[in-house]
Order: sequence, then structure tokens, then C-alpha cells
Amino acid sequence: MANQYTTRKKESYKIFDDIAPTYDFLNRILSLGIDVRWRKKLQQKLPQGKSLEILDMASGTADVPLSLIENKRISHITGIDLSEEMLSIGRKKIEKAGHEQSIQLQTGCGVNIPFEKASFDVITVSFGIRNFKDPQESLNNMHKVLRPGGRALIMEFSIPPNPVFKWIYFFYFRHVLPFVGNILSGHKDAYTYLNQTVEDFPYGDEFLGMMKKAGFKNLKATSLTFGIANIYQGDKC
Ligand SMILES: C[S@@+](CC[C@H](N)C(=O)[O-])C[C@H]1O[C@@H](n2cnc3c(N)ncnc32)[C@H](O)[C@@H]1O
Repeated sequence: MANQYTTRKKESYKIFDDIAPTYDFLNRILSLGIDVRWRKKLQQKLPQGKSLEILDMASGTADVPLSLIENKRISHITGIDLSEEMLSIGRKKIEKAGHEQSIQLQTGCGVNIPFEKASFDVITVSFGIRNFKDPQESLNNMHKVLRPGGRALIMEFSIPPNPVFKWIYFFYFRHVLPFVGNILSGHKDAYTYLNQTVEDFPYGDEFLGMMKKAGFKNLKATSLTFGIANIYQGDKC
């Protein structure tokens, strides 16, 4: 039976509509700037090949497309998201950077992905999949929408294995981040909710198991900053 938490998760993009104006600013502050480095690391995981066509899901304010497009092997990036407010900020950033020809944003769901089979060489999702109502269905559909030889790259929070880091991490996620985030975003509990989604979401081998179930091969998890986050990669063979 759906409880308040799962109902809210289903419509999490509405929270992002509310916090869109402060999202980028708070990301930089609350991650102490590490999120910029993590997105650059994503670029290093791209598969071989030229003229890569990429789908970035849960694209938000387009930080991932704007970071990836620096790579000259990429020909085009399509970003999708359900939050019109996040997309609107993303479009302004793309225009300002002069990338309107190579990056396009559109409204679209990361679970029922609105593209034909075998449409992209790479699919990226950064800090988005844990907000989807059905992550397994999303992975199944990513596998369909990728071309043979294509790669899924998913960046998501995880729990650090070291007990000391784990303690610091939980203290930060349970107390500091909700307190600062809710005050500065002006939203009553957006950052409390976001922290709950991090603690509840599968990570490490459990998440790789979900990718395997969706049909992905050559599975790998790369730990970022003491295991605070992971980049999961899987290929469609
Ligand atoms: C934490 S933000 C991540 C944004 C961006 N990828 C980044 O790294 O900064 C999560 C994004 O997921 C989007 N989202 C939530 N549910 C979605 C869904 N079912 N389909 C597409 N986007 C969704 C939200 O609107 C929000 O923009």
C-alpha cells in the first residue's frame, strides 16, 4: 500500500519545481564544491567512439550536459526531466554557454523513457534515479533505449564503508544538510525528504544487481570521496 513517503517519491519532481531557484547555489554549498568534480569524473567513464549521442535523465538544471559537452567525442546531448522549473533554469544556462545546438532539454520521465529502442550511445543519470518511482523499470527501459555497445552511467549517493566516515556522513545528512537546506531554500522540508531518499536507496552490489537484472554487462562501481557516492556503469552488449 502506498504510504506518504512513496506517494511523495512519485511526485518528487514537484519538490524540485519549488527549490529550483536555489538548487545550484545550495548544491555548491552543501557538497562543498565536490559535486563539480564528480560530474567531471563521469566524463572519464564514457565509452570508446566518436559522435556519441547522449541522453541525460533527471537532467535538472543541466549541470551534467554542460560538464559532458566539454568532451569533443560527444555530438549531441538530450536532457529530460519532469520539473519545468529546473529545465527552465537549465535552458538559460545552456544559452549563456552558447551550447543551444548541441544540448537540448525537454520534458520527459526517466521511468517511461520517451524514446524509441536503440536511440542513444550513452545514458547518464546523476542523483536522479533514487527519486524515480520505479528504479528497476527505469533501468530496464534504459537498456532498451541504448544502442548495442552503449553504456549506462549512473551517479548516486551511497553509504561510506568506514565507520568514522559513516558517522560523519549520517550526522551531516541527518542534521546539517536538512537544517541548512530547508532554511536557505525556503522550503519547509525538501532537504529532510531528500536525505531520507539517500538512506533508503540500494547501493553498491545491490544496485549493480538491479543493473544486471535489466540486462547490463561489464558492471562496475567506482567509489567517489570515501564512498559518499558511486558511479555505476553497465554496457549493453
Ligand atoms: C537531485 S536532482 C539532480 C539534477 C541533476 N542531474 C544534477 O546532477 O544536478 C534530481 C532531478 O530528478 C528529477 N526527477 C524526479 N523524478 C523524475 C522522473 N520520474 N523523471 C525525470 N526526472 C525526474 C527532478 O525533477 C530533479 O530535477
